[in-house]
Amino acid sequence: MDPTVSPVTKPLLGAVLGTRQARPPIWIMRQAGRYLPEYRAVREKAGSFLDLCYTPALAAEVTLQPLRRFELDAAILFSDILVIPDALGQSVRFETGEGPVLEPMTPEGLGTLRPDNVVDHLAPVFETLERVKADLAPDKTLIGFCGSPWTVATYMIGGHGSPDQAAARVFALQEPEAFARLIDVLVEASIGYLVAQFRAGADVVQLFESWALNLDEEAFAACVIDPNRRIVEGVRTQIPDAPVIGFPRGAAAMLPAYVQATGVNALGLDFSMPVGFANRALPPALSVQGNLDPLRLLAGGAQMEARAEAIIAGFAGRPHIFNLGHGIVPETPVAHVERLVQVVKGGR
Ligand code: CP3
Repeated sequence: MDPTVSPVTKPLLGAVLGTRQARPPIWIMRQAGRYLPEYRAVREKAGSFLDLCYTPALAAEVTLQPLRRFELDAAILFSDILVIPDALGQSVRFETGEGPVLEPMTPEGLGTLRPDNVVDHLAPVFETLERVKADLAPDKTLIGFCGSPWTVATYMIGGHGSPDQAAARVFALQEPEAFARLIDVLVEASIGYLVAQFRAGADVVQLFESWALNLDEEAFAACVIDPNRRIVEGVRTQIPDAPVIGFPRGAAAMLPAYVQATGVNALGLDFSMPVGFANRALPPALSVQGNLDPLRLLAGGAQMEARAEAIIAGFAGRPHIFNLGHGIVPETPVAHVERLVQVVKGGR
C-alpha cells in the first residue's frame, strides 16, 4: 500500500476504507479464469497451473485480462490460496477437472513443513504484483490475497475439497495440539506473505475463508475468528492501517462477532446472506462487499439485472463494493459479465 495515494483516486479502495459512493465500485471474485477464452489460451501455454502462478509475466497478463474487457475497479493478483502449502513443502497438484490434490497432512508430517521457506518460495508472486502495479491505471485498486488458515488447513488435511470438509473438522477435534500447531504455522506464513504483497504494491488484501460454513460457534471462534484476527493484527504491526477485506463464506449469524473481533475494514457477504439482515446485524458504517449469486450471472437477463439493482439499493446506506457472493463459474457467458458491469455502473 502506498500511503501517499489518496483513496479518492481509487474508488474501490475508498469504499473499503469507508467512503460511500453513488454507484458501487465493482470487482468479481475469480475474475481471471476459465470463462475467459484469453485466460484458457495462456493457461494452455503455461504448463501446470502452479507454473502459471509462478511465472510473473504470464500471471501478470492473466491478472490484467479481465480489466481489458470490462470496466472493473480492481485487479486481483492471479495466484491461488494453495501456494502457501506448496511453499511450506507439502505436495500440491492441480488436476484438470478435479481441482487441487494434496498429500494429506498428518500430525507427524507437521515437522516437515518449512515456514522459513515461504516468502522466498513466493518471490515470483511479488514480482507479479510489481508488474501489474506498473501497468495498472492509477484509479484501479490492486487486490492481494491469501486463504485464511482454517480454509487452507481443510485442503492440507483432507487432501482435496469436499462438500463439508469433514476430514479437517474431525482432525481439529481429535488432534487439537497438532491442529493448533498447523494453524500457528499458517498464521505466521500468511502474515509474512501478505506483508510482502503490500510491499510489492497491493493496495488491499482479501482473506478468503471459503470454508467458514459448517462450524459450530466454538469451532468458529477457534478456527476462523482467532486466526483471522491474528493475521490482521500481525500484518498491521508491519503495515500500519493495512486495508483488509474479510470473506468468511457462510459465517451467517457469526458475522457480527467476526467483524468485531478481527478488525477487517470490509466484509464480503455470500449470496445466502439477506441484505436486510446484514444491514440490521452489522455496524452501519461498515463497508460490505457482495453478494450476487454467481448462478444469476451465469443465467443472465432480467433476473440478474433486477437482483443487482436490489442489492445496490439495499446497501445504499453504507459503503458498498459490488461483487458476487462467491467465485464466477467457468460456464458463465462473457456477455453476461459485460452486462452486469454496465448495470452496476448505472448504464442502460
Ligand atoms: O481471478 C482471481 O480471483 C485470482 C485468482 C484466484 C484463483 N484461486 C485462481 C484459480 C483466487 C483468488 C483463488 C482463490 C481460491 N483458490 C479459493 C478461495 C475462493 C473460493 O472460490 O472459494 C479456493 C478455495 C481455492 C482453491 C482452488 N483452486 C480450487 C478448489 C480450485 C479448483 C476449482 C476451480 O475453481 O477450478 C483451484 C484452481 C484454480 N484457482 C483455478 C483458477 C483460475 C482453475 C484452474 C485452472 O485454470 O486450471
